[in-house]
Amino acid sequence: TAFPHLFDSLTIGPLSLRNRTILAPMCMYSITEHDGVPGSWHQVHLGARAAGGFGMVVAEATAVSPEARISPADVGLWNDTQRDAWAPIVETIRSYGALPAVQLAHAGAKASTEPGLPGYTGASVGIDDDGWQTVSPSGINPVSGLAETRELSTEQVRQVVADFVDAARRADEAGFEAVMIHAAHGYLIHQFLSPVTNQRTDEYGGSVENRTRLLREILAEVRAVWPAEKILGLRISGSDYVEGSWSLDDSAELIAGLVDTPQARAQYGLDWVDVSSGGIGDTYRGPSGPGYQLHLAERIHRVAEATRDSERPLTVSAVGIITEPGQAQQIVLSGQADAVSIGRAALADPNWPARASVELRPNSEIPFPPQYHRAQRAL
Ligand code: FNR
Repeated sequence: TAFPHLFDSLTIGPLSLRNRTILAPMCMYSITEHDGVPGSWHQVHLGARAAGGFGMVVAEATAVSPEARISPADVGLWNDTQRDAWAPIVETIRSYGALPAVQLAHAGAKASTEPGLPGYTGASVGIDDDGWQTVSPSGINPVSGLAETRELSTEQVRQVVADFVDAARRADEAGFEAVMIHAAHGYLIHQFLSPVTNQRTDEYGGSVENRTRLLREILAEVRAVWPAEKILGLRISGSDYVEGSWSLDDSAELIAGLVDTPQARAQYGLDWVDVSSGGIGDTYRGPSGPGYQLHLAERIHRVAEATRDSERPLTVSAVGIITEPGQAQQIVLSGQADAVSIGRAALADPNWPARASVELRPNSEIPFPPQYHRAQRAL
């Protein structure tokens, strides 16, 4: 339709979502054994949001290697035990009607910190404690107060690419139907993109071409093992608002380069971009309040226009204080983005989409399991 509704289905790449609401990836810091193996918390948390009506459920930042974790309590996909533990969680998400997705991540210099839970400060965890030596493009921390970080050798950068590829293969084996590469929020890939944190002199530093090389290699090499019938996604910080770091123009140029020729489409096969912001620098200098990152998504959505008539158009989702159904509907209707990602509002209400559906389309079927049909009157 010319004017899509939030509860119209959405085709991303080769697959369809039942509606245009996406559960944003959110770290749960819930692995008490510190072995990266997800368990009942993830089953319940992600399953509830699938049952609550989300079109896609994106599992939190999932580490591609032990040192890629933000905290010791993070989940991973660097071994087969983790893969096998994800499989029933993925099946639960799917069985409640949502498309199961996972964010693959490497925290780089922002790794080895305390979990983001009450009672912790987010400080670095010492190597003799439960922590590890963090790695980065140039031994430069993106924010102050973190433990000293070590520069990756060229060979180690190639290993990072290989780790993303192996994690993507396991994500496929676990049944995930979409992967989202985490290139936002000042974590490792963003640290490579920004000249503030990337001062390398090898082929991974210097020019824009070189600073974006790690991301482009990850996308191309993941695409090569990730099935063509599944969604390859990316999350970027549209801007980090730090002078001389990573700007909206840089993001627009990056995304254009990933989609603007048939060769690029074939090489990277990017289906979906979620546009966030920030993560480098101690002070956030961007706008705040409802829809504070919308202008970034809108610009990237205009870049994606060029792919509209192609076989596999690029989908763009917006995120950041999207809490009201009418606000979400307006974003989709006005063409600012194709879909919305909901974070904190979905922590408060796992049934956010079902509630929004009742509000926006009172006489339509709500995206709920039948067991809950009597809730409709209460929403
Ligand atoms: C996040 N966010 C986040 N982002 C990401 O890319 N990977 C992640 O694992 C996490 N983890 C995470 C945990 C928690 C508890 C929160 C609240 C947030 C950011 C999140 O996906 C989202 O972009 C922001 O929260 C902004 O959207 P909302 O919350 O305003 O809808």
